[in-house]
Amino acid sequence: MPIAKPDEIDKVLYTHEQIQDRVKELGQQITSDYHKLLGNEIWDRPPIAVGMLRGALIFTADLIRAIEIPMTIDFMTVSSYGNQTEPGAIKVLKDLTESVAHRHVLIVEDIIDTGHQLAYVRKTLLAREPASLKTCVLLDKAPRREVSVPLDYVGFKMDKDYFVVGYGLDYAERYRNLNYVANLSPKAIK
Ligand code: PRP
Repeated sequence: MPIAKPDEIDKVLYTHEQIQDRVKELGQQITSDYHKLLGNEIWDRPPIAVGMLRGALIFTADLIRAIEIPMTIDFMTVSSYGNQTEPGAIKVLKDLTESVAHRHVLIVEDIIDTGHQLAYVRKTLLAREPASLKTCVLLDKAPRREVSVPLDYVGFKMDKDYFVVGYGLDYAERYRNLNYVANLSPKAIK
């Protein structure tokens, strides 16, 4: 049974293989950078990956298995920033279980669009005084940016405003379980 009807997918932007290859590269880069940054401290204070639910669930699961250092993992949910919502209305819906004070934090996001959500999450976590704070996004929809956010690791930089679904990304909660990223067809949008 297919996850999406053929006419709902306009085109595949990143195949499963392309994503897996890129995630592996990101994992190697992150491994190397934390090794350099932390040295032996890594054993006493392993970095913490903060996966942003729900979109980054799948990316986080793959990425942490491509990072070859000790790590812990936690999750956070913030409210959606839709067209009808002011950026100031973003708030934490599900907070972290662990404290990030004095920890090396890696925020893991599926996509950065306007940047408001990630900017809010960075500000929220910085206020908790982590030892360091980095960001890793799979997709960077750069043409849509409204606020500047420092990005340490980017999977794919997108030059167009595609309606992306798959690999965790949804439309009306569907398509998250596609193992590739695609542009949704206007026919599928209600
Ligand atoms: C999506 C995505 C990012 C955010 C990016 O989340 O996962 O978190 O939007 O948008 P921005 O850069 O314009 O702020 P969404 O709120 O749709 O929730 P989800 O993670 O549950 O899909």
